[in-house]
Amino acid sequence: MAKPKYTSHVGMVDILPDESPKWRALETIIHEEAAKFNFEEIRTPIMEQTELIVRGIGQLTDIVSKEIFAFEKGDSHYVLRPELTAPVVRAFVEHHLEQRGGSQKLYYIGPMFRAEKPQKGRQRQFHQFGAEVIGSDDPVADVEIIALMIRIYQRVGINNFELKLNSVGDPESRETYKEALRSYLKPNLDKMSELSQKRFEKNPMRILDSKEPEDQQFIESAPVIQDYLNEDSTEHFEKVQQYLDQLGINYTIDPHLVRGMDYYTRTAFELISPDLGSQDALAGGGRYDLLVEEIGGQPTPAVGFAAGMERLLIACEELDISLAEEKTVDVYFVTLGDAARTWALTHLPKAREAGLSATMDYKGRSMKAQMKDADRENALYTVIIGDNELNEGKFTLRNMKESEENSLTFEEILEKLG
Ligand code: HAM
Repeated sequence: MAKPKYTSHVGMVDILPDESPKWRALETIIHEEAAKFNFEEIRTPIMEQTELIVRGIGQLTDIVSKEIFAFEKGDSHYVLRPELTAPVVRAFVEHHLEQRGGSQKLYYIGPMFRAEKPQKGRQRQFHQFGAEVIGSDDPVADVEIIALMIRIYQRVGINNFELKLNSVGDPESRETYKEALRSYLKPNLDKMSELSQKRFEKNPMRILDSKEPEDQQFIESAPVIQDYLNEDSTEHFEKVQQYLDQLGINYTIDPHLVRGMDYYTRTAFELISPDLGSQDALAGGGRYDLLVEEIGGQPTPAVGFAAGMERLLIACEELDISLAEEKTVDVYFVTLGDAARTWALTHLPKAREAGLSATMDYKGRSMKAQMKDADRENALYTVIIGDNELNEGKFTLRNMKESEENSLTFEEILEKLG
């Protein structure tokens, strides 16, 4: 086939009709599980002010420095949202959601945009679901967030994952740790990758995330942040672990786990799947106790996670999990002649009112072609309508699976199928 003149942008993927049922099934699971945890849905615009994303996520992060889709129109600077934590916090501050009382337990589903190099499990437009608890620094909130995240994978049937956990400390602990890390790395810095050398001054903790082979030997024996956490951060981290243990949620502590956004404080976690190849992070999140204030609100602690929906669906494929049943239509009206077509068109609404899904041929095709089409559409029943049937007021109802036929009035058909 000739290449079409217009295609979607690289890394931006159409979800075609054969794919959409599994997306809807997944969305239903997310809505249901979020409701069980008493989270409420929030929907924010696809575009945000560039300044919000830069402030929220951090100027030096990969997302902001390399991956945002940004443009200007008039005096406004727009960015396609690369994630939803900063936008949700913006909405929280803008609409004074704290006035609703208690902690705000919010969840979302939607497209995000990052100008990354596309590969399996990595797109430029991708979808996340996620949840945020804004207004609590209780480790219970951290653990409920992790429990909700995991529950959704379990509901889907994915049990094969590893939860990696770390504490990145509060700013005070982090400053002491960064100093220790710099002193440790400095003597060998010239042997390390260019990227790590660049990160050394401003963001040495990101070096721990380096995939460059020449960095690995130095990272392996680097000091770990746990030894530099102050009392508050240590106590919080221990409580998170204690509650996870009590819930029977397995985890491994990964002292090198650093996340790609600057807003994290204390708890950080990632859910890793062995079924995904190189893009193996199903989901990630953590605590961001300073972000609300950074964006202009009152100091308000918060914690959340976000999960990649494409990656979840790839894991389903690898594990042979089918989320959606095959599409069917209850009844297909097979028509012979003009009078039958008019009858079918005017009786479709009645079938639909009776709660059935119902369709007919739109192309004036032969009976054989219509039967073939009904098969392709996975029709459970066909009703055959011709002049004789219209005169008699009785129609042949065919059960397509059992190849069984009955001659019935339209009312009897509705009763039988309804
Ligand atoms: P994140 O780790 O950047 O965190 O993204 C969460 C998940 O989104 C990843 O684990 C991955 O499954 C998916 N993801 C990220 N980028 C792509 C991509 N280019 N293509 C496909 N999937 C992708 C956040 O976004 C934070 N906002 C999480 C959070 C919420 N932290 C606190 N609250």
